[in-house]
Amino acid sequence: MQTLDLFAMPSDDAQRLATLRQTLHEHAHRYYVLDEPSIPDAEYDRLFRELQALEAAHPELITPDSPTQRVGGKALEQFAQVRHAVPMLSIRTETDTQASGAENFDARIRRELSLTELDAPVTYVAEPKFDGLAMNLRYEHGVLVQAATRGDGETGEDVTQNIRTIGQIPLRLPTDAPDVLEVRGEVYMRRDDFEALNERQRQKIAAGAKGEKTFVNPRNAAAGAVRQLDPAIAAQRPLSFFAYGLGEITPPEAGGPVFATHYDMLQTLKSWGFPVSALVKRAQGAIELVAFYDAIGQQRDGLGFDIDGVVYKVDSLSLQRQLGFVTREPRWAVAHKFPAQEMLTTVLAIDVQVGRTGKLTPVAKLAPVFVGGVTVTNATLHNEDEARRKDVRVGDTVIVRRAGDVIPEVVSVLLDKRVGEPEPFTMPHTCPVCASAAVREEGEADYRCTGGLFCSAQRKQAILHFAQRRAVEVEGLGDKLVDQLVERDVVRTLPDLYRLGWRAQAELLAISQDQLADELDASKQQALALSTLSNMDRMAVLSAQNLLDALQKSKQTTLPRFLFGLGIRHVGEATAKELARHFGQLDAIMTATEAQLLEVADVGPIVARSIRTFFDQPHNVEVVAQLRACGVTWPEGPPAERAPTHLSGKTFVLTGTLPTLGREDAKALIEAAGGKVAGSVSKKTSYVVAGSEAGSKLDKALELDVPVLDEAGLQALLQGVDE
Ligand code: IVH
Repeated sequence: MQTLDLFAMPSDDAQRLATLRQTLHEHAHRYYVLDEPSIPDAEYDRLFRELQALEAAHPELITPDSPTQRVGGKALEQFAQVRHAVPMLSIRTETDTQASGAENFDARIRRELSLTELDAPVTYVAEPKFDGLAMNLRYEHGVLVQAATRGDGETGEDVTQNIRTIGQIPLRLPTDAPDVLEVRGEVYMRRDDFEALNERQRQKIAAGAKGEKTFVNPRNAAAGAVRQLDPAIAAQRPLSFFAYGLGEITPPEAGGPVFATHYDMLQTLKSWGFPVSALVKRAQGAIELVAFYDAIGQQRDGLGFDIDGVVYKVDSLSLQRQLGFVTREPRWAVAHKFPAQEMLTTVLAIDVQVGRTGKLTPVAKLAPVFVGGVTVTNATLHNEDEARRKDVRVGDTVIVRRAGDVIPEVVSVLLDKRVGEPEPFTMPHTCPVCASAAVREEGEADYRCTGGLFCSAQRKQAILHFAQRRAVEVEGLGDKLVDQLVERDVVRTLPDLYRLGWRAQAELLAISQDQLADELDASKQQALALSTLSNMDRMAVLSAQNLLDALQKSKQTTLPRFLFGLGIRHVGEATAKELARHFGQLDAIMTATEAQLLEVADVGPIVARSIRTFFDQPHNVEVVAQLRACGVTWPEGPPAERAPTHLSGKTFVLTGTLPTLGREDAKALIEAAGGKVAGSVSKKTSYVVAGSEAGSKLDKALELDVPVLDEAGLQALLQGVDE
């Protein structure tokens, strides 16, 4: 226990203070000046807060050069310095990622304005907090004359040349714009642009180009582009911009515009040609702020760009003036952060997992860490090349990222935290489960176990795949139970699921399973299955019975589900549906030639080859026959009438909430009319169907000139009515 002594300063505190300052200086330099941070933002924030707390306890030790005493970064010497006419402030950050974060802000505003419960809710504007870099755009007489970074808030860097290359930023304004206008906003890089840029960078590096690198995230890529000394290179780095505020502006008495609210100001900026995010919304009181926070949090991963929270601003400009500033932060605004998607942790081990198709995946076992809203203990390293590129080793400190439902991954290693010289990771050349050879085919990224269904890992995955909800659905058949069923050799192949206990019984009686079938009537089969299941760990008779019922139920299935459940490589749900629709009957699919398979929409040479190969294997044909013998059935028919095909060849993308149709309904209707539904908008998209709260897909559609339909428009199209 540390004792509290107000007069003596524990020397370890002083030491910690010095270390923290040094560390933060280094990271701030990497972040602001080099655009190459080596730790996640959340880690920087944590260190920063620790320093703030220590300094609060020992105010006499605060030095002017402490990182806590500065806003933002330092100007690079290569760029001319720009003194901002109006300082560029920062906003207070609310790190409480609960609803209370918004409620605290509203309560504070109401207190400052001396409002009581009887007064109406305060009107706010809620905006995304864009994860890029702040920019001040100065226009004189309608012409862009200067673009400057924030720098330390007082002085920034003149990056006009580079900013001029951003197509979204107007170089000239309409004549109703004031003589002097400074627009503030965020320069950022869209995620798709970022991915494409990194891909180009990787190709350059692969081609042996010197001095090229890939970027850690869109923000760093954007910052790097803005502060690129060669405008020609900057121009190849696609940047975007959102406006969210003003700097200097011609005052009303000199003929400048008068705005009553922040929202009106944004609308005017839009009318002058500045991009303003469609997500920006007016909100009444804390309730609507919370709703906004939740709604944007939900959409976060689907947006075309990174955000790290939302910003709430008091809408009325006169109230903003009344509220004023504390030091360098306005009282009328707050940033409310989302849970961090990147955190630091350590690698405890590197395992290799075997998937359904034998694919070996290196997985880092991590010290548990809370990231992206959940506790993560595993992160994929994808494949040999990725693992090698990232050079993750046991004991390393790593950045883990988890965004949305995407599986957690290791972003990078903090090399300066590596202790000693741990062994580099190498991919095993034998399967870690069944010891069969593992091979990496030429042109493939993955090693695969060659054990096939001899490999228990592959068997387990194949069974789980067959039993999943989207396939034949055996409710209650989870991975723990499948582990046991396979380990104890109760289930070797899919049909064994419907013949539980048969193998052991046949061996006991020294007869074949076929002979056993003749001896067991339905009730005896049930009894044998029930006793077999009840013998498993953690299996009560009741749950065993439930599972048997679920197995029974799963026998009545559909052709697409059954086909998908077989786990043929490259045959996903959509392809299974197409195959079923085209051929109508399983036998027709099993005997189809590659050429015949190629006639199916969606089936290319690789898929056709894979289907043919699968059914060329006698044991796969046998599995199908046995499943049928066990009573697995589905309605078969002649090839489906391909009546409504007027939408065939058309691709739709759905976004937002439609007034009456659910997403699945809309999808089913489009597919029934021969159309396809895709997840993302491209030039090949025929229509985007947009409902309320439509997100970046709508922006993208407008950008690419893809026709946009509302629900009524979709209905008209489905009925074949010309628009
Ligand atoms: S308003 C006086 N609005 O967050 C308020 N800032 O510390 C000035 N940011 O680096 C900022 N999205 O670049 C505002 N919708 C938004 C924002 C936003 C991102 C950034 C800004 C600055 C930091 C604020």
